[in-house]
Amino acid sequence: MIPVITIDGPSGSGKGTIAAKLAAHLGWHLLDSGALYRLVALSVLQKNLNASADENLLQQLAETMDVQFTGVEDPAAAQPIRVLLAGKDVTDEIRTEAVGNLASQLAAKKGVRQGLLARQKAFQQAPGLVADGRDMGTVVFPDASLKFYLTASVEERARRRCYQLVAQGQLKAQDINVSLAPLCQELRDRDARDMNRAIAPLRPADDARVIDTTQMNIEAVLAEVIQVAFSIRS
Ligand code: DC
Repeated sequence: MIPVITIDGPSGSGKGTIAAKLAAHLGWHLLDSGALYRLVALSVLQKNLNASADENLLQQLAETMDVQFTGVEDPAAAQPIRVLLAGKDVTDEIRTEAVGNLASQLAAKKGVRQGLLARQKAFQQAPGLVADGRDMGTVVFPDASLKFYLTASVEERARRRCYQLVAQGQLKAQDINVSLAPLCQELRDRDARDMNRAIAPLRPADDARVIDTTQMNIEAVLAEVIQVAFSIRS
């Protein structure tokens, strides 16, 4: 059986960064399942559709969209992962707030989740997989060897998002204070939508190790995750 480590949690909990670093550390594959939901959202926008489109059509889109992940699964590598949709590089386009919000609405649709299921399972390739998302430990890989659930306070997650936006040149450092309150509200809304949906809601699997990263930096979280990963292997 090819081993899988799942890392679930809300936006801004650090799970994406930790999953990528852990995959690089172990030399394993990486599944960024959120990117797949974002790719469905972008496909929907490109077809001038929206979240209320026919569910069979949305499922078909999720199943058949032409997606490729290229590059190296190491955020520090010279060629980090690029995401291609129908051959076009959409790595940055899928990270916009508009795509993220539509992805969150589409993620509540059974057809979309069903349409992405086989695609996600196909990432389980030797020597192993680190899978990052909301339902990796509960639905997609319930038999995973090790499950983590990362979380952090809404305020801390909003602060991290602000610094990310500043680093990307999308926000001026002096505007951080005014941006925090609306970002907190957006995160609360997205959490509520992800946690309260009927299908595959965001929650820790019963056998997940929960890590609250509010007071921790990335290095400390990574060290804890690696230590647990090696302690269960030996
Ligand atoms: O992790 P992210 O922000 O890139 O995810 C985008 C949206 O996709 C998020 O609002 C919730 C949804 N999602 C999901 O429902 N299940 C997953 N396994 C991953 C993401």
